[in-house]
Amino acid sequence: MTSRISLKAAAKINLYLEITGNRPDGYHDLVMILQSIDLCDRVDICKTSTDEIQILCTNPEVPCDRSNLAYKAAALLQHNFPEVGGMEIAINKQIPMGAGLAGGSGNAASVLVGIDRLWELGLTQSQLCDFAAMLGSDIPFCVSGGTALATGRGEVLSPLPDLTDLVLVICKPRSIAIATAWAYQTFRSQGLLATSPVKNQNLSSQLVAAIASGGDSAPSKLGRLLYNDLERVVLPEYPAISELKNRLLEQECLGAMMSGSGSTVFAIAADLDRAQKIAEAVRTDNIDVWVVKSLVRSIFDA
Ligand code: C5P
Repeated sequence: MTSRISLKAAAKINLYLEITGNRPDGYHDLVMILQSIDLCDRVDICKTSTDEIQILCTNPEVPCDRSNLAYKAAALLQHNFPEVGGMEIAINKQIPMGAGLAGGSGNAASVLVGIDRLWELGLTQSQLCDFAAMLGSDIPFCVSGGTALATGRGEVLSPLPDLTDLVLVICKPRSIAIATAWAYQTFRSQGLLATSPVKNQNLSSQLVAAIASGGDSAPSKLGRLLYNDLERVVLPEYPAISELKNRLLEQECLGAMMSGSGSTVFAIAADLDRAQKIAEAVRTDNIDVWVVKSLVRSIFDA
């Protein structure tokens, strides 16, 4: 039996994030369109002879204790499957933290998938997604990946046609990390649900139609339909993110938007050449920039 596995776990962006309701459990009902992108962490899982779960990470800012989502994912499967023993999980971090790119969630998803394969648990995709939903709202998407419509608190997924070769410029202000809980709670306390600028406009359906239509015109249609309700709380609080978005929009891009609760802002570019030019125009000492393409999966062999 194999004793180690090496997986890549992709980041995601939100092409669309609309908050449609306040839930009594403190969460929010959402309509999101999520896309995996080729900015990946590597997660190596190695069986050990003890029962312990040990986390190592190349980024010293990532906590390696029980609060790490990768630890929680391993502990959840250990708890449910007595045959799952101890392991060392080594995370090679490329995806920034507090970025709205689901880096931590992707690590947890790859730990679920990796343990299932290492201990030959034989879990179905749907069982993996059920475990994922116990750990966090966007972890089921990180298990399945590609392009998907997500509703509920983000865990109810409907796959959408693959968006292949979408070219993106991903920009992360280095000194700004945003806590997702803060963004949603501020949205609620400011009563922003009542003043939604997109209510009853069916923007998400238009976006789904643009994705389904495919073809060369899809990226420019998508670019015009990008939307994120959390911009309404994050941009006023962090003018640097707002400026970054404006700088992207001044370039020849097809659209730009904050991802998730930020602080990442992304732009859709017509092609790789244009993306490189946009990247050069916005890169500074304080802003990390990647040019990436969309992916049709989120977890694959490293
Ligand atoms: O589910 P997860 O733990 O990733 O969510 C992090 C935080 O984001 C939650 O504690 C909650 O404050 C907020 N959230 C929300 N509604 C959602 C998803 C997340 O309010 N649908």
